[in-house]
Amino acid sequence: MSDAPFSTIVEPFRIHSVEPLVMTTRQQRRGHLRAASYNLFQLRAEHVLIDLLTDSGTGAMSRDQWAAIQHGDESYAGSPSYYLFVDAVRELFPFEHVIPVHQGRAAERILFTALGGPGLIVPNNTHFDTTRANVEASGARAVDLVIAEGRDPLNEHPFKGNMDLEALEALLAEHADSVPCVMVTITNNSGGGQPVSLANLRGVREVCDRYGKPLFLDACRFAENAWFIREREDGQGERDVADIVRDMSALADGMTMSAKKDPMGNIGGWLAMRDDDLAQTCRTQLILTEGFSTYGGLAGRDLEALAQGLKEVVQHDYLRYRIRSTAYLGEALQKMGIPVLRPIGGHAVYIDARGLAPQIDPLQYPGQAVAVALYEVGGIRSCEIGTVMFGRQPDGSEVAPSMDLVRLAIPRRTYTQSHIDYVIEVCERVAAGAASLPGYRITAEPPSLRHFTATIQALD
Ligand code: F0G
Repeated sequence: MSDAPFSTIVEPFRIHSVEPLVMTTRQQRRGHLRAASYNLFQLRAEHVLIDLLTDSGTGAMSRDQWAAIQHGDESYAGSPSYYLFVDAVRELFPFEHVIPVHQGRAAERILFTALGGPGLIVPNNTHFDTTRANVEASGARAVDLVIAEGRDPLNEHPFKGNMDLEALEALLAEHADSVPCVMVTITNNSGGGQPVSLANLRGVREVCDRYGKPLFLDACRFAENAWFIREREDGQGERDVADIVRDMSALADGMTMSAKKDPMGNIGGWLAMRDDDLAQTCRTQLILTEGFSTYGGLAGRDLEALAQGLKEVVQHDYLRYRIRSTAYLGEALQKMGIPVLRPIGGHAVYIDARGLAPQIDPLQYPGQAVAVALYEVGGIRSCEIGTVMFGRQPDGSEVAPSMDLVRLAIPRRTYTQSHIDYVIEVCERVAAGAASLPGYRITAEPPSLRHFTATIQALD
């Protein structure tokens, strides 16, 4: 009999404790949409059947993580849970200083309070929104320097998250004195969950060395990035993912981290670095707003869950399943002719809503139209990443960004293949009716970050 691998993706776990999902009718969902003013962030989560709003903090913890929670030590200072956490982080990211925080944006705020400032420039492949907001809150300018292929939704480049090394060199040649650090986001969430290669990271390191600049990783999805390196980069195919992660961290001087993604936490994060003086400044900031340096706003039990999650996320069976199952959804949509960002990223599938509903002017929010339809038709919550999110300019004008996307983010270890098959079927039905979807208009919005709270209405 053949030894060929089977094509069915088997979840490398079985279910130990279940959460009920509530079924709703289309009629009820129409009412929930009205009550939420057509803003999916305003829905009550129990009215959502499949929640693909984000992969952040929404994963299922393992039996061993729940067991670790019982082991949590809640001492204010010097908790053994902190030391366990630091050891688990250093196993993959051997930085001298590891500072726990409650989530990624807290690490960003502390880092840019220390390193940012008016007139400074921070280059990144692509800043995530909170990273950009924290750089800008310090008075500095956030500049995105992803390679050109990374801005083209259909280009099949294997490492679309790579930094444009020439652009980085040019920026540093002109403004070296104004650049406090260089950042690289792995994987590049805002660019479609696309990975950065080891070769590119080495290139960034060389440029940083020439100009004497520290390199920080925004490493939320480091394990997914390392798996893509193993699958796609020359000479990496036989390596242990944990070793690839250590290679990535060896090239950097520090990192910010949201542990709500790959470290399998429902909450948590950290900031890490080699530099003693910077660490001291950051710890002072930490104590000001987050907590003492051995808990940083987390409970001891959270630190234990993260220490265990870090061991689980680098397991090959898990990562093979994770990356294949995201691709399974993306490839099925593509086969049905739904335009999706290519190649399929690690944590999410991004539908090109402008391509799917070309009759809707970008300033009438095609992404919102598709996201609302996915909820109304099938109870699926997704996230508009387009003109609603980015359209409002600081001068008050409204400009459509280059793409109107709908992100279907996949929580880790949470949904089974039949849930995803259902998502595929709902997408097929929405795509079949996409030509008659209406545009939308915003009826009220706050001065910034409007996508969370704006009230929205369908155009007749
Ligand atoms: N960096 C990246 C690349 C992220 O994707 C996120 C969060 C953060 C930083 C901030 O981390 O939420 O723990 O404060 N991304 C979530 C998402 C919110 O839905 O993509 P946080």
